[in-house]
Amino acid sequence: MKRVAIVGATGAVGRTMLSILQDREFPLTELRLMASARSAGSKVETKWGEVEVEDLATCDPSGIDIALFSAGGARSKAFAHKFVEAGAVVVDNSSAFRMEPNVPLVVAGVNDHAAGDHQGIIANPNCTTMTIMMAAGPLHRAVGLNQMIASSYQSVSGSGMQGMKELSHQIDAMRDNPDALATGTWEDPGSGLYERPIGFNVLPMAGSLVDTYTDEEWKLVNETRKILEAPEVAVEPLCVRVPVMVGHGIAASMWFDRDLSRDEALELLAGAPGIQVWNEKTPTPLDSAGIDDVLVGRVRETVGRPGGVSLWAVGDNLRKGAALNAVQIAELL
Ligand code: A2P
Repeated sequence: MKRVAIVGATGAVGRTMLSILQDREFPLTELRLMASARSAGSKVETKWGEVEVEDLATCDPSGIDIALFSAGGARSKAFAHKFVEAGAVVVDNSSAFRMEPNVPLVVAGVNDHAAGDHQGIIANPNCTTMTIMMAAGPLHRAVGLNQMIASSYQSVSGSGMQGMKELSHQIDAMRDNPDALATGTWEDPGSGLYERPIGFNVLPMAGSLVDTYTDEEWKLVNETRKILEAPEVAVEPLCVRVPVMVGHGIAASMWFDRDLSRDEALELLAGAPGIQVWNEKTPTPLDSAGIDDVLVGRVRETVGRPGGVSLWAVGDNLRKGAALNAVQIAELL
């Protein structure tokens, strides 16, 4: 039995963490919830009774066994070590520690073994990387991935509650004038979060530019290599933000150490945990929202450069892409 804390408990991922802990009947003896000073003092009704939200900045982390962090990278950097020093294992959903050599980066069901080798912090991968790893992992294990070209279709909840509010606001502001949308006479509804409007639009640059690629794209490159323990894998990424509330889709073409047929790929995927292969119906973000499994469809042999396999994977970015995987890591612990 464990004493568990959720840091960032009032956010989109933090709330999902709480609901998943409850649904999975996580064996905890005490639950603590932390957020910013803005939320401190508010009360949350949980299966284990009413819990008062604490201010992360002033809380005393003594006595916590597992802390699930999802309050942004800056908070992870500022507070995770304090929690570890107080005796907790931190499962961190931010990108703060993912590439540190002594921090395991774990996709539950793909590289569980890595979780055993932690020094207090275990990192939860980026939500886009997580989703495609659920399909790429089992294929890699069988035939050795050597190249992946991947484009993401990322929902706004990947940017937290603010992303969801912004999409609703922009759709409300723009939907009554379809002619303006069709003729380029629309007015920018104003955006605090994204560089361009996300309502009725597609932003082919998710994240912020690092060089000519974005940080989201670099995460897909570097985290794939770390999770698969394949530092040589060539990953060509494009990360796109789409006007979807929940559910990240990834279209990927993959080539391996030998040719892989569609039938063999389907067989490997059918035996893998945490995914469902849909052949009759095309899985979409709406299908993935609110469920645990990653949905895989459109599995086909590559035509441009034969020998590989192309597929589409879509998963709930708040669940498997973040909160569920963090809870699964806690279960591994
Ligand atoms: P709060 O709700 O008090 O602002 P999301 O990404 O969905 O917006 O969620 C972010 C989470 O991180 C929220 O729980 C938020 O708490 C928390 N958070 C944001 N800034 C801080 C901060 N400075 N200190 C502690 N928690 C923070």
